Amino acid sequence: MSLAGSQQKVFLRLLSALRPHWQRDANLPARIQSLFAASRAIGSRDRRLHRELIYTTLRFLPWIEPLLDTDPARAAQVTAWLAADLPATRAYRAATCGDWPACPPAVAAKAAQLGADAAALLPAWIGRHCAEAAVAPNLDALHTRASLWLRLQTPDTARVLDEFTANGWTSRCAEILPSALELLAEADVTKTKAWADGLLEVQDLGSQLILESAGVASRGRWLDACAGAGGKTLQLAALLGPSGHVDAHDIRPTALRELEARARRAGLGNIAILAAPATGVYDGVLVDAPCSGSGTWRRAPHLKWTTSAGQVTQAAEKQLALLAQFAARVRPGGQLVYATCSLSRFENEEAVTAFLAAHPDFDLEAPARDFGAIRRSAGLAILPAPHNTDGFFVASLRRR
Ligand SMILES: C[S@@+](CC[C@H](N)C(=O)[O-])C[C@H]1O[C@@H](n2cnc3c(N)ncnc32)[C@H](O)[C@@H]1O
Repeated sequence: MSLAGSQQKVFLRLLSALRPHWQRDANLPARIQSLFAASRAIGSRDRRLHRELIYTTLRFLPWIEPLLDTDPARAAQVTAWLAADLPATRAYRAATCGDWPACPPAVAAKAAQLGADAAALLPAWIGRHCAEAAVAPNLDALHTRASLWLRLQTPDTARVLDEFTANGWTSRCAEILPSALELLAEADVTKTKAWADGLLEVQDLGSQLILESAGVASRGRWLDACAGAGGKTLQLAALLGPSGHVDAHDIRPTALRELEARARRAGLGNIAILAAPATGVYDGVLVDAPCSGSGTWRRAPHLKWTTSAGQVTQAAEKQLALLAQFAARVRPGGQLVYATCSLSRFENEEAVTAFLAAHPDFDLEAPARDFGAIRRSAGLAILPAPHNTDGFFVASLRRR
């Protein structure tokens, strides 16, 4: 059997193992990891190939899943055709669908080529939650492999770029935010000296725009109420500068331990971990709320199939409760920044509108910069297409 033939066999075997779970396991990426860990015979290069093929399957599931029953070889061909052209996929794609016309970037053109239904690629409810997500260009962006964005933690960009160049990696700075760098190579930045020295962190450009758009002042004491592993905590601490301070809290102690290590690597001495919820008042509070994660669908495509409209509504209730809880920690005149990685208006502007109705001592603030994002009734929707990012929402409120 040819190399591509045996790779196709392994790919179909991996899909069979995942298939019972991909419509119901919100933690599917962990399952994929375990599957690779248990499949020792798959080498690291083939792992990159299979990871890309699996994520392509999840992105285009309604087009591929029915073929698994009727014509598995065709399912594998369609997946190879839809997969990104990467060093890890190139030879396999050439051997599997090399005689097909080039795969077009637009979802509508892909659907036309395959005689498939573009609308089936998203859950039916998304159009009511975010009309722009269901059509081009955001529909196309949501069905593209996510880029690797870095946030530079040094003004000395050349020091980072020199190492990338020496590794043969290309990258580009975001025009809208020069401290954000897109790595165009398939590479593990955590193996670089620049990463070990704290000169960079992995953070999606859209996520970086949240605090930039909120116009955080370069001073003051802040609470990062849902800090997780601290992507935004580190950025906030850098924006506040040495005279500022961030107390970081989360209900997940493991995430906070990771945050601590990242802060150490970045050399940031102005972050403290709060094991218990904060009790004091702050100049600013960031509520980066847990959400449906619909803004991350290109990175976590299984969530399209595991998230129901009812779960989005439940998430919105929790977000409102967290906003109310942590708003109490904002001093009069202080800032409250609310963010999600959701596309849904129910988790975004409608949550903010409901909060404002119940808290007349808070006012909505205009964004300091909008980066061309969509101004909603109560906040800014950062959609995937304009700057090749995940989708986010941010609203800045001020306590009277
Ligand atoms: C969107 S994630 C935060 C991401 C993080 N801020 C970053 O930039 O990487 C939401 C976080 O909220 C946390 N969370 C959920 N319920 C919470 C609560 N009641 N209090 C504090 N944090 C909570 C979750 O553990 C999760 O880490």
